[in-house]
Amino acid sequence: MEPIIFSIETSCDETAVAILRGKNEVLSHLVVSQIDIHKVFGGVVPEIAARKHLNYLNNLTEKAFEEAEIEPEEISAIAVTYGPGLVGALLIGLNFAKGLALNLNKPLIGVNHLYGHIYANFLAFPELKPPFLVLLVSGGHTMILHAKDYLHFEIIGQTMDDAAGEAFDKVARMLNLGYPGGPKIDELSQKGEPIYEFPKPLYHKGYDFSFSGLKTALLYFTKENENYKIEDVAASFQKALIDTLIHKTIKASKDLKINDIIIAGGVAANSYLREKINEEKSRNKKLNIYFPPLNLCTDNALMIARAGYEKYIRNQFADLNLDAVPNLGL
Ligand code: KG4
Ligand code: ZN
Repeated sequence: MEPIIFSIETSCDETAVAILRGKNEVLSHLVVSQIDIHKVFGGVVPEIAARKHLNYLNNLTEKAFEEAEIEPEEISAIAVTYGPGLVGALLIGLNFAKGLALNLNKPLIGVNHLYGHIYANFLAFPELKPPFLVLLVSGGHTMILHAKDYLHFEIIGQTMDDAAGEAFDKVARMLNLGYPGGPKIDELSQKGEPIYEFPKPLYHKGYDFSFSGLKTALLYFTKENENYKIEDVAASFQKALIDTLIHKTIKASKDLKINDIIIAGGVAANSYLREKINEEKSRNKKLNIYFPPLNLCTDNALMIARAGYEKYIRNQFADLNLDAVPNLGL
């Protein structure tokens, strides 16, 4: 019988639960975004995020079981994000999961949020198999990974300062565009042209990234110039950052001779990134580049259930002492 996994994601400002049967059958997939609450403050307020998770989790869980038309006793395991993320936010999800596990007498599975983002692709593309390369680009991470096996990812390159999403968010704040910055810059860029040459730090050097120089260059540009079109500045920034991400990922794919590439994390929602990837695909027919549908790019619990499934079938369960690990690595 296929396992049924109930999952919880509360690492940042999305409260999400899902129920997944087997690898791919979605029984429920619910996300409550707190963006409207945090945007007033220009970014996520950790204490508010934790409190809101606590408010929402009970109702969301009830709704998920209603939607799935199953009883809580019918699930096989509970998968929950235990890091990386905001400690208070993680703890709410984790303790809720532990309570359920204890009450229902079901195993607990601790899921690394980063694995979740990667596994979002398996929901959309069931045919995907390791080895493949991953460009993981979120608010907290920017990495090129070599997936040698289902649960074995080697870091090929990573950011030395800001994550890609973080750079988007910070630049949006500089330009007074509000929070979250990624979607705002994406939208604005569609009305502008990338006419400014902003630096692409480390462009020709290895696989590591650095975005703080780009951010500073943009800050100086806006201070030293007056008559710029904000749409053009946004488009130029976006181009410098995304071109760098793509250049290094394609280089890694050539150097390591791996033609399957998956893009994961919130920045994978970026429309210029998607357009550029399609250009690369039409230039090199051997490349298979996958990116999840928009609703699976940003934080959700379905990806946590899918990653949890891989642990479930390998009997990799956690005990009830599992703690939140805010800076959990791969
Ligand atoms: O993966 P995610 O939802 O949360 C983390 O695990 O960090 O990623 C959120 C990040 C934010 O920095 C947000 O600005 C960025 O993803 N993002 C985007 C877009 N949509 C979300 N960045 C660029 N373009 C977008 N369309
Ligand atoms: Zn995330």
